[in-house]
Amino acid sequence: MTVLLNINGTPRRVTADPTKPLLWVLREDLGLPGTKFGCGAGLCGACTVHADGEAVRSCQISIADAAPMKITTIEAVAATPVGKRVTESWQALDVPQCGYCQAGQIMSATALLARNPRPDDAAIDAAMSGNICRCATYVRIRAAIKRAAGDVA
Ligand code: FES
Ligand code: FES
Repeated sequence: MTVLLNINGTPRRVTADPTKPLLWVLREDLGLPGTKFGCGAGLCGACTVHADGEAVRSCQISIADAAPMKITTIEAVAATPVGKRVTESWQALDVPQCGYCQAGQIMSATALLARNPRPDDAAIDAAMSGNICRCATYVRIRAAIKRAAGDVA
C-alpha cells in the first residue's frame, strides 16, 4: 500500500505495510538514519521525532497514524529557531558521549522549549524523563537546555 507522509516539510510517498512503525520507514525507506533504534518498545526515547510539534516515539507510531501529521526528524530540527538554539547549545557544551541517544534527546528538548521557553528543573525532568542516556550525560543535557532557554549562566 502507498502511504503519503509529510517528512521535514516534504511530501514523501512510501510503499509499505501501513502498520510499519514510522521509525523503520524513516531509516529503511526514506534514508533518514539520524532517528535511532534503541528498545523498539517506547521505553528509551532514542527514536523520538516531532509529530505536529509534539515529541513522539517513532517506534510506537505506524505510518498510517503518522500520515495526517507533520513529522520532523533530527535531520531538519535545526531549521526552526528553537531547534537551532538547542543544537548549538548541544555543541557548545559538548553534550554527547557515545552520541547514540542524543538525536532523541535533542528532539525532546526542542519540543519542550517550543511549548515552554523557560522551563524550570521540574519541567525539564518531566519532559526528558523518557529519554535514557546510558552514558549518563544528564547534567550536560540539563545545562544545554537551560543555555538554549537563555539561562547561559
Ligand atoms: S526505540 Fe523507540 S522508545 Fe526506544
Ligand atoms: S551519549 Fe551515549 S547513550 Fe547517551
